Amino acid sequence: MRINGIYFLVFILLIAFGCKSKSQPVSTTETAHGHPHYSTIGNISDYKLIFPSKVPDRIIVNLTEDPVHSFAVNWRTDQETTKGYVEIAKETHGPDFLVEGHIRRIVANSQILEKGDTNAKEPLVNAAFHSAVVDSLEPGTIYVYRVGDGSVEDSFWSEWFQIETPSADENDPFSFIYFGDAQNNVKSMWSRVIRKSYKMMPEVDFMLHAGDLINHSEANLEWGEWFHAGGYIHATVPSIMTPGNHEYDKTTLSTLWRPQFNLPRNGPIEAVMETCYALDYQNMKLISIDAISFERDSISKQAQVKWVDSVLASNTKKWTALTMHYPIYSTAEGRDNIVLREALKPLIDKYKVDLVLQGHDHTYARGYDQNKGQGLTVVEDAGTIYAVSVSGPKMYTSQDQDWMIKRGEYTQLFQIITVTKDTLKYGSYTPLGGLYDAFDLIKDKNGKKKLINRDADIPLRLKKDFNKQ
Ligand SMILES: [Fe+2]
Repeated sequence: MRINGIYFLVFILLIAFGCKSKSQPVSTTETAHGHPHYSTIGNISDYKLIFPSKVPDRIIVNLTEDPVHSFAVNWRTDQETTKGYVEIAKETHGPDFLVEGHIRRIVANSQILEKGDTNAKEPLVNAAFHSAVVDSLEPGTIYVYRVGDGSVEDSFWSEWFQIETPSADENDPFSFIYFGDAQNNVKSMWSRVIRKSYKMMPEVDFMLHAGDLINHSEANLEWGEWFHAGGYIHATVPSIMTPGNHEYDKTTLSTLWRPQFNLPRNGPIEAVMETCYALDYQNMKLISIDAISFERDSISKQAQVKWVDSVLASNTKKWTALTMHYPIYSTAEGRDNIVLREALKPLIDKYKVDLVLQGHDHTYARGYDQNKGQGLTVVEDAGTIYAVSVSGPKMYTSQDQDWMIKRGEYTQLFQIITVTKDTLKYGSYTPLGGLYDAFDLIKDKNGKKKLINRDADIPLRLKKDFNKQ
C-alpha cells in the first residue's frame, strides 16, 4: 500500500507539472469504449517516455537532399508550446559562440497532433511536433544547435548539440551505420546496440535504419523507447529510415512517422512521401524504397519502380545503396518477397547497385546472387551485395542458401560501412564489438568491383546452439 501511495503521489505530481495540458484529458477512469486507460502503462518511466512536456524531447536530425549545406531537425513538446525555434552557430573552443551576432535563429513548422487512442492500450497523447530545416551551412564544418520555445531562459530549450556537415570533396571518406530491425524491447535490449555502435565509431556521419524501428505503428510508448534508446545520438548523428511492416497498420503509415521525422520529400507519389526518397551523400546515392506500400498497393509499386528507374538512370555517384525493409533475397524459406524481387532486381542489375540493405527476417545474411555457395575469398567481378540484418532481440532461424556468404542467427548486429573514393569497407559487429562479418568492395574506374571477403572474429552462430525454440 505504501509503495502504491508513493507511485500515486509521483503520478499526480507528474500530471501537475507538465504532463497534462488543459485540453488533454488525462484520466484513469473508464472511457466511452469501456476499458480503463493506462491498462498497460506500468510505471513512472513509461509516463516519462510517453508524455511530452515543455522541454523538447524526441529530438532527431535527419539527412536532407543536400546534406553538405543543410540538415533537418524534429522534436516534440507539449501542445501548449505552439512555436519552435532552432538556434545554430559554428562551434567554438569555449562559450564564444554565445556572443551576440554569432547565433542564427530558424523558425520551425509546428503542428499539434491530437493522437487518438488507436492502440486502445495507451492514454491520449496530444503533443506539438516541431520540424525545421537548417540551411545555408558550410561544408565540413562543426556546428552547435539547440531547439526550444524561443524564451530567454534555457529552461525550455534543449542542450546545445554538435553536428558536422559533410566535406565539400565528395571523395573524402565517410562512414555510416546500418541497423536491421530494433522493433522489440527497444529500451531494454536495443539501447546498448546503438550506443555500442556510436562508441565504436563516434565520428560516424549518419545512421540508417532498415525498418521496424518499433513493433506497433501507433504505440507511443514504443516510439518513446526508440528515442530514449538513441538519446543524444539521434540529435547528434543524422539518420535516415525506411519503414517496415510494423510502421504500418495494413496500408496506413504510422501517424507519428511524418511528424517525428523530416525525410526528403522527393518520392514519386504523395502516399510514399518521406518513406520512398533519394539523396546524395558525398559520392554515394542512397535510395529508400517503401517496401510495405510497394507490396500492398499496386499503384505505389508501379510508381516506385518507374521512379527508381529514373533516379538510377540519372545517377552520377560512384556508389549506390538501396535500403528497403523486405529483403530481395530472404534468409529463410517461406519468407521470400517475390513481388519485390521481380520488380526491382532487373533495375538493381541494370544500374549495378552496390549495396542493398534490408531487415525483416530477424536473422543475418550477406552475399550476392552469383555466389552459388562458393564462398570465395576474392571475387574479381562482383555484383550487388545483399545484406539482411537485425539489431533488436527478436530472433528467428534461417537456412543456408546459395547467395549467402555469411549467415547468422541469435545475434544482435550493427554494420559500420566506410566509403572512400574507390573502396567500400563493411563490418558487421555484435554488441560486444566482435566482428561477425566483413568485406571490402574495390571499384575501378570502369565500375568493375572486386569483392574481398574478410575474416571475421566470430564463427557461425545458430539459434539452436542457445537452446532456444
Ligand atoms: Fe518486418
